[in-house]
Amino acid sequence: MKKITKICCIGAGYVGGPTMSVIAKQCPEIKVTVVDINQKRIDQWNDNDLDNLPIYEPGLKEMVEATRGKNLFFSTDVDKAIDESEIIFISVNTPTKTYGKGKGQAADLKFIELCARNIAKVAKDDKIVVEKSTLPVRTAEAIKSILDNTGNGVNFEILSNPEFLAEGTAIEDLLNADRVLIGGQETASGQQAKDALSAIYGHWLPKERILQTNVWSSELSKLVANAFLAQRVSSINSISALCERTDANVAEVSRAIGFDSRIGSKFLNSSVGFGGSCFQKDILNLVYIARSFGLQEVADYWEQVIIMNDYQKRRFAENIITTLYNTVSGKKIVFYGWAFKKDTNDTRESAAIYVADALLEENAEILVYDPKVKAETIYADMDYLGTRSPEENRRLLKVTDNAIEAVENAHAIAVLTEWDEFKSYDWAEIYQKMLKPAFVFDGRRLLDKTTMEGFGFKYYKIGES
Ligand code: NAD
Ligand code: UGA
Repeated sequence: MKKITKICCIGAGYVGGPTMSVIAKQCPEIKVTVVDINQKRIDQWNDNDLDNLPIYEPGLKEMVEATRGKNLFFSTDVDKAIDESEIIFISVNTPTKTYGKGKGQAADLKFIELCARNIAKVAKDDKIVVEKSTLPVRTAEAIKSILDNTGNGVNFEILSNPEFLAEGTAIEDLLNADRVLIGGQETASGQQAKDALSAIYGHWLPKERILQTNVWSSELSKLVANAFLAQRVSSINSISALCERTDANVAEVSRAIGFDSRIGSKFLNSSVGFGGSCFQKDILNLVYIARSFGLQEVADYWEQVIIMNDYQKRRFAENIITTLYNTVSGKKIVFYGWAFKKDTNDTRESAAIYVADALLEENAEILVYDPKVKAETIYADMDYLGTRSPEENRRLLKVTDNAIEAVENAHAIAVLTEWDEFKSYDWAEIYQKMLKPAFVFDGRRLLDKTTMEGFGFKYYKIGES
């Protein structure tokens, strides 16, 4: 088998950056180049101060420090990287379409197509093209068609190698992956390509964890994995509403059912709702695909996972409003956390955005504190929703970098992200600063009810009456 010495990755985002840093670290003999059309992002990846990397992810800084400039490079010269690489990973974003056919559900593949056309234009010798982005089943067919019809007569082998890392634990997930999935054509050249990619992961992962399948199973498995994970969160969140009415405690229910080894304990933490760039997008994509094959019941089944998630976010916001005597107009509500989960600066589809939107509709005044998210990101999230003008968003919602001073004269605190630091705050001091009665709405089940009530708070925790 030919030894791979040069690879590149198109897309220096949450997947491309961490994944390639780990490959570079584990495969010192391979030159890894990560390219992106976003100059600012590449500059941040190349910043001497590693605290300025565009992505916050525990352990990432150390990976980049160990490899950057040795065998890991970040650049905007996409063509050069394609030209010199034997394997090209495509790791660009595949958001939900916001226009045209499939608007609001189908994946927008324009960035993928641009990459394929670019590879076709530049490649002068045979290449292995790897779909690292999450794509609808049978996308490889479209990529192959573009490559074969506009290419320079060179042979392209398309592999599907979806990424399963979760943000906040990306480096650990990559180093210790449960499995790596590699889908390819069932031909001799397809097998060679699958083996070449398997050999890269084989540098640090045991053989049994590297699964080879056909391309379509691999593409579909990625959507299905996310759908199953999100389904668990929606399932437990549906039960949280019932717990609040029946004096059952959702944590006790999770524990009780999770002990059944057939169910398992993971992904049963009830919350204000799942966020992130992928769960919703990938389920909507699955729903769209099922519908496009006329499988209405299949589509409805999976769509309910999203409907339940929207309900949970709405329910949390409505509970704040009703508990605060049916009006939040002019009331100061402090948000602890904006990111969609802890240990990331990513805010895409974060529940906080939708809770803020619902409260601003009722003229609340929101003050946000998040240890890793910048004010510009928070305002961009609100402006993107388009519910109100950017001026209105900036008038009603403010951002602070001091979590304790923030609560001065606040009516309520809403915990939207499970950052560890919130647990170590001096909640007695926080209570003193707030207007009385002082409310805490814990959308992450982060704090202890008895302790919080001991300080004097009126404390509401998802999934407990
Ligand atoms: P991202 O938005 O963080 O990064 C994508 C990058 O691609 C951007 O920097 C963008 O500038 C760049 N890009 C777009 N078009 C380009 C082009 N033609 N040439 C060069 N660069 C281009 O996205 P992400 O979160 O890294 O996700 C990428 C893919 O991986 C998506 O399909 C996503 O579903 C999937 N995925 C994401 C995660 C996650 O945790 N974020 C996990 C698994 C899979
Ligand atoms: C998820 C999957 O876990 C990854 O395997 C997948 O690669 C990735 O999507 C992707 O395709 O993008 P991610 O979205 O980064 O990863 O983070 P998760 O840990 O899955 O959390 C997603 C959301 O669900 C978060 O808002 C989290 O707070 C919420 N969640 C998770 C719960 O509310 N309860 C849980 O028990 C677990």
